[in-house]
Amino acid sequence: RTTTVSVIKADIGSLAGHHRVHPDTILAASRVLAEAKRKGVIKSFYVTNAGDDLQLIMTHFKGVDNPEVHELAWTAFREATKVAKDLGLYAAGQDLLSDAFSGNIRGLGPGVAEMEFVERPSEPIVVFMADKTEPGAFNLPLYKIFADPFNTAGLVIDPRLHDGFIFEVLDVFEGKAVELRAPEEIYDLLALIGTPSRYVVKRVYRKSDREIAAVVSSERLSLIAGRYVGKDDPVMIVRAQSGFPAVGEVLEPFAFPHLVAGWMRGSHHGPLMPVGLKDSKVSRFDGPPRVIALGFQVKNGELIGPADLFDDPAFDEARRQAQMIADYIRRHGPFMPHRLGPEEMEYTTLPEVLKRLKDRFKPVEMGYKPKVKHEAGEAADVD
Ligand code: 13P
Ligand code: 13P
Ligand code: MG
Ligand code: MG
Ligand code: MG
Repeated sequence: RTTTVSVIKADIGSLAGHHRVHPDTILAASRVLAEAKRKGVIKSFYVTNAGDDLQLIMTHFKGVDNPEVHELAWTAFREATKVAKDLGLYAAGQDLLSDAFSGNIRGLGPGVAEMEFVERPSEPIVVFMADKTEPGAFNLPLYKIFADPFNTAGLVIDPRLHDGFIFEVLDVFEGKAVELRAPEEIYDLLALIGTPSRYVVKRVYRKSDREIAAVVSSERLSLIAGRYVGKDDPVMIVRAQSGFPAVGEVLEPFAFPHLVAGWMRGSHHGPLMPVGLKDSKVSRFDGPPRVIALGFQVKNGELIGPADLFDDPAFDEARRQAQMIADYIRRHGPFMPHRLGPEEMEYTTLPEVLKRLKDRFKPVEMGYKPKVKHEAGEAADVD
């Protein structure tokens, strides 16, 4: 028998702007899931928040993309939204981009990460949940966890990891995916995933037997809606130990608060700060972007836990560094690279500004005719 872990999340409205989820909406969603557990739709669940995002962590025996489980999540979000509306929470229903559920929650706004596996005798997993950033924020940590021996000692010293891993990379603009193998193809892999706004690591498999190792939610809200509707605050599930990286190897990349896209109005780069549940909220400039990590053991389909893995002085220095980086980069105000580049500002007010100024742009004699084309993806005529 296989067990499925489904992490489905949505921002359905929050307390004090985009600060954090209101406890009453957590209760509303929990009630819906408790009833479904009683009826046997799911085996167990844990509801929590990453900043202003409501997180449903569920286990069941129905496989990924199961209509019943997806509809359950949808119902939980709808019920929580009702409470959010009653309380006048900010941006109530923000990530529910559609009114009609038709069998699958993907494409309707919520973020989805699901994996199905035969449980090992002991099955540790880590669920990462981030706020004020995008799915590609996990590219760098995933590379380190599954392809960098300076991060993951097991790649060198554990024979079960020694063959390496396969990365499934999704092009979110084209809706295409490519599989790249580590270590053989790491330069090609990095060439793609170094552009996290477009190329997102969707899944990682162990190469020796294609066992699933990690999965990331890859929904891009602006690409679904065609306009700015907040960031796509992602989630990720990673399996650990006994043939996978150790929990400590899975957490290690987050000791480096790397720069990610998101933060204020989804339009700024900032450091990703690892925090415990008590700090799963945002303040300064609606950030800085945060990530929490909850560890569980999965046994007979039951979630045992959680362990609040970043609630540890061992990550104090990463948090302090994140503060310093936040101070430094904030001083750029509206300038790149703090503010995102033009391609990523496409779904903000920038196009309107350009449209308004269009007729005020006058030709200038520059003494040469620029050859470089600026259409996305078009190669420039230079090195
Ligand atoms: P323990 O001896 O504490 O179980 O440590 C085992 C281990 O491999 C830690 O990474
Ligand atoms: P969220 O996607 O977390 O709602 O953030 C939206 C925003 O604009 C923060 O400034
Ligand atoms: Mg919000
Ligand atoms: Mg959010
Ligand atoms: Mg969001």
